[in-house]
Amino acid sequence: MRILSGLQPSGRLHIGNYFGMMEAALRLQHEGEAYYFIADYHSLTSIRDGGTLRGHVRDLAIDFLACGLDPAKCVFFKQSDVPEVVELSWILSTVTPMGLLERCHSYKDKIARGISASHALFAYPVLMAADILIYDSDIVPVGRDQKQHVEVTRDIAIKMNEAFGAGLLKVPEPRIREETAVVPGLDGQKMSKSYGNTIQLFEEPAALKKKIMGIPTDSTPVEAPKPTEGSTILALYKLVASAAEYDAMVGDYQRGGVGYGEFKKRLLAAVSDHFTPMREKRAAITADEGYVDRVLAEGAERARAVARKTLRRVRDAAGLS
Ligand code: ADP
Ligand code: TRP
Repeated sequence: MRILSGLQPSGRLHIGNYFGMMEAALRLQHEGEAYYFIADYHSLTSIRDGGTLRGHVRDLAIDFLACGLDPAKCVFFKQSDVPEVVELSWILSTVTPMGLLERCHSYKDKIARGISASHALFAYPVLMAADILIYDSDIVPVGRDQKQHVEVTRDIAIKMNEAFGAGLLKVPEPRIREETAVVPGLDGQKMSKSYGNTIQLFEEPAALKKKIMGIPTDSTPVEAPKPTEGSTILALYKLVASAAEYDAMVGDYQRGGVGYGEFKKRLLAAVSDHFTPMREKRAAITADEGYVDRVLAEGAERARAVARKTLRRVRDAAGLS
């Protein structure tokens, strides 16, 4: 079974990225042949500064490794180190109906958030399809907001197979973890860097404390029972606490007698504890000059060997060679 996923290097990771996608992806690396990459071609739709992009790529690579990506187990690489994917993207785009892309929410959402409406932004799902199809992927673990793109990928694969021959490209399946499909941000909306409501994975302790203690709450008095439904504190706590700790907090909500300040303190402690080992690993990786570059270079070589094979198959089928 081949598992593939990518993340855009668009700034520091937040715990929505971690629980929405990365944690599941890291668990899957033990269940099959995992291919994980840093989607730097995709980030060009929003980052127009070489130094910034290079810095984000490096940060994301370090974060991935710190969180437990094992380069001995999976192929970890940078999207643009495999330029074959852009050629495949062009070929795929010739069978992609306009209507399929016009239906994609993410294009409209991104424009609404002020990202400029470029051709690349519109064609982004086709490049994502190429990312997935070029590695003959079976399973694509992503957050719920990416599910539509995996469905577009399936449609494109089917169209390619109809046009150029049955079985030419493997039709992949999305893998969404429903229980963490949407991690709420500090304000209760979906956590997203575009909403400024994130808790970063490696937040400085003082900033973390300020953010968590500042989570808005209702004015239920300390002694009264508190609503568990829609509570951001509980939703976040569930991700980082043990089941027993979570049940204890739910009990305290329902009984009353414990204030929101105390709940926030418990949440703060649990978030810090959860990410401490990764924080330590991050420091070690950062100190090892050259390690990240070596890992990515080796990943690129392995990924490229697979990509070249698929592209050759498609070029032959399409009459390009
Ligand atoms: P952002 O919304 O901060 O820009 P991205 O769109 O770059 O995040 O998301 C990267 C990955 O993380 C995707 O797979 C996405 O589904 C997942 N993800 C992002 N935010 C959340 C969230 N709040 N809950 C669950 N998954 C998320
Ligand atoms: N579009 C994804 C995101 O914004 C990143 C991505 C690019 C991706 N190519 C992919 C994810 C292929 C999974 C598979 O998060």
